[in-house]
Amino acid sequence: MARNSKKDNKKSVPPLRSKEWFGKAGMDGFHHRSWMKNQGLPNHLFDGRPVIGICNTWSELTPCNAHFRILAERVKRGVYEAGGFPLEFPVMSLGETIMRPTTMMFRNLASMDVEESIRANPLDGVVLLVGCDKTTPALVMGAASCDLPTIVVSGGPMLNGRFRDESIGSGTHVWKFVEAVKRGDMTNADFEDAEACMSRSVGHCMTMGTASTMASMMEAIGLALPSNAAIPAADSRRNTLAHIAGRRIVEMVGEDLRMSKILNRKSFENAVRTNGAIGGSTNAVVHLLAIAGRTGAKLNLDDWDALGRDVPCLVNLMPSGKYLMEDFYYAGGLPVVLRELAEAGLLHKNAKTVNGNTIWNNVKNAECYGRDVIHTLKKPFKRKGGICVLRGNLAPDGAVIKPSAATASLMKHRGRAVVFEDIEHYKARVDDPKLDIDESCVMVLKNCGPKGYPGFSEVGNMALPAKLLKKGVSDMVRISDARMSGTAYGTVVLHTSPEAAAGGPLALVRDGDMIELDVAKRRLHLDVADEELAKRRAEWTPPDVPDRGYWRMYDAHVMQADTGCDFDFLVGGSGAPVPRESH
Ligand code: FES
Repeated sequence: MARNSKKDNKKSVPPLRSKEWFGKAGMDGFHHRSWMKNQGLPNHLFDGRPVIGICNTWSELTPCNAHFRILAERVKRGVYEAGGFPLEFPVMSLGETIMRPTTMMFRNLASMDVEESIRANPLDGVVLLVGCDKTTPALVMGAASCDLPTIVVSGGPMLNGRFRDESIGSGTHVWKFVEAVKRGDMTNADFEDAEACMSRSVGHCMTMGTASTMASMMEAIGLALPSNAAIPAADSRRNTLAHIAGRRIVEMVGEDLRMSKILNRKSFENAVRTNGAIGGSTNAVVHLLAIAGRTGAKLNLDDWDALGRDVPCLVNLMPSGKYLMEDFYYAGGLPVVLRELAEAGLLHKNAKTVNGNTIWNNVKNAECYGRDVIHTLKKPFKRKGGICVLRGNLAPDGAVIKPSAATASLMKHRGRAVVFEDIEHYKARVDDPKLDIDESCVMVLKNCGPKGYPGFSEVGNMALPAKLLKKGVSDMVRISDARMSGTAYGTVVLHTSPEAAAGGPLALVRDGDMIELDVAKRRLHLDVADEELAKRRAEWTPPDVPDRGYWRMYDAHVMQADTGCDFDFLVGGSGAPVPRESH
């Protein structure tokens, strides 16, 4: 092990934090060691070797992470093998499909759990086990505020879904099936049959949804080992990756390779460009802004447009394309995409990664085994992959749209607003045969932003009215302050900021107003006179918030979508100084 083993690195590598607990004589040391020994841990594990925390989001309420006990055991093997002392600990888990009102409401809470759990305990390095959407940003945000050597291990995507003769993708096919049932093209019995066919192995969503996007972001930003993004959860090589991560984190402690030595402006730029190349989720915008905020790296909403604008989408994966993460892995996975970007000068090749290599060294020999799955920059899958940032009087602080998932002919559109005041109003009204709506209208949904829902829900891709689906309409312009599942698609303007519940202009839109969307000009305009808007503003009242509890704290401190929705008091980090004794 490299730690303090050479004269010349003695100064640069600080002493192990764990020594302050386990290396003590007298009563303090007795306390710290004795109770740990009730787990059958032998004396030699307290001899000053690095203590590695395995931060586990395992939960049966988070099905995407329900295999993480095995993954943690594989990390432990690697840690022991490298001479470390692994200690697994639980943190709040966030199950996307189960938690209400939304997991996003609890992302920051989980990040606080992670941050304080790391700082309060005798840990020298950390392995973060992440999978389902919010578990990745929550753990990385918390760990970044502590800044210990840290490595991310994603749980991996599920195997391809298969329904009869068709590959089906998590989430993406739920929207398709729901529309098919509404149109009368699918029976309820078939709909039910498809449930088990979609989710047929352990792992997270296997489309290029938010979980796969964030796993890819971790690889691109340098916090995870090569191939972290795509190895299926059920593939034995996922366990191998966890084992190697366990070995590597012990070395990282020896090298004092902290998160702050990996996360910087260059690594974030690499991640933003990669998101364009994979046709990644719009949720990555919010999460990377929040992670950057914890590190001090300067990244803002406009960087997403400026950096990603010309990045073509190379990856033919649902929801933008037809393949799934299992196919992506067999075709070579993210290293192929990173190589392609690096060779075109679209990546900072010298950005450092957790295995000690630069990103270029990691990917320079990557080979593609499926060109229909991973395209080249010369012949991209879609010409525009990046996320566009829109502004205008309807979104003074910005809104986003994902062109690769949208309909080209709707990217410039003027239409009459049909307004839903909140999600209940939408549900009650959308399929009313008397609703005055046609395919040229713009559907507007309010009060689904960070404060509004509360928790910034993924309802922005609201299903179209049944009567229009039956007519064969497949897409319409939709605008909201909500997010959209990374598995979803459509000409959907999201994250409109400030949100309606914070008094943003979206709150003022009424049925019949004309709205103009011009993605090429990055414009989102509400065609209503300023005097009329001022009159409507005077009539607006903010929504009620409870008197107590987490919701109250959340509402008081959550920031808007354009800055990542972190709590204002969590931005930045406090490092991991050893706290004082409790006795
Ligand atoms: Fe967990 Fe999609 S529901 S990753």
